[in-house]
Amino acid sequence: MVQGTVNWNTEITKEWLQSYVDDWVKFYKKETTQGKVASYIPVLKQANPNHLGISIIGKNGMTVHSGDVGIPFTIQSISKIFSFIVACIERGVAYVLDRVDVEPTGEAFNSIMHLEMRKIKKPFNPFINAGAITVTSLLNGKNSSEKLEALFELFTKILGYRPHINKDVYVSERETSVRNRAIGYYLVELGYLESELELTLETYFKQCSIEVTTEDLAKLGLVLANDGMNPHTNEEIIPRNVVRLAKALMLTCGMYDASGKFAAYVGIPAKSGVSGGIIATAPPRVRDEVLPFVEGCGIGLYGPALDDKGNSIAGIKLLKHIATKWDLSIF
Ligand code: DON
Repeated sequence: MVQGTVNWNTEITKEWLQSYVDDWVKFYKKETTQGKVASYIPVLKQANPNHLGISIIGKNGMTVHSGDVGIPFTIQSISKIFSFIVACIERGVAYVLDRVDVEPTGEAFNSIMHLEMRKIKKPFNPFINAGAITVTSLLNGKNSSEKLEALFELFTKILGYRPHINKDVYVSERETSVRNRAIGYYLVELGYLESELELTLETYFKQCSIEVTTEDLAKLGLVLANDGMNPHTNEEIIPRNVVRLAKALMLTCGMYDASGKFAAYVGIPAKSGVSGGIIATAPPRVRDEVLPFVEGCGIGLYGPALDDKGNSIAGIKLLKHIATKWDLSIF
């Protein structure tokens, strides 16, 4: 047994898990004071830095919500997983991977440096902005609504409702998007974009401004944990080879330049966004002991106070604690 894991050698009840998670959320909420809410998109500054919430949904339907759940927040970079998935479905995996690589950068998500300094043939991965904007340019459609339709359909199928775009966040990002525009112009110069720059950026800002809750992220994470199948009907929602790629990217590039430490200390595919959301996906595991969510689960967190890498400061600590206690690591 991993050091620090709780001995669960008895029946695991929802009440039991709930009381543990409630205690942990209460404990880690104190850490929110150590972080800062993102401010480069002005509207994001309105978030309450002390919020911390988590939803966990297991394949067998076991659900735990704790802390500040039910508060809508914008999906931001977590959308990059799903725009990549949609692009792979629409254009084919080989076509997409010809245009964006699957290598971590060790640099900030909005870095321009590698585009200019290194003689690269394609952006490093779909989760840095250069790669994500390139992927968005590949989505089918003549305008942003058409380009985002398949993404909305995918979300609707998994969430059971059609999420909406937070217009204030969208406008706020569009009006302050100088760095993404700079990245966009480089991408145009290098010939990477398949749709016109303004349309691509409009679509990218809109996909980042889709509103979700921790429960929504947990549902999305559960489908990824279940290899793209609906956990209740086992109907395929996302092809397995595409989910496998997406999860590999989450593990290697999902937590910005803190991805290595996250893989070492938490050990499950995850992706964060600047509004403070984190999606994590714990695949089924085979162990000799009784463990919570052994059949796999999806986890959604929200904690808008960020650390210096741009990840939810309390969210990461809470996730690390849970992963240790429940032995969630895939390694
Ligand atoms: O590109 C941006 O600045 C945001 N809309 C998304 C940023 C984000 O969440 C961090 N990205 N990895």
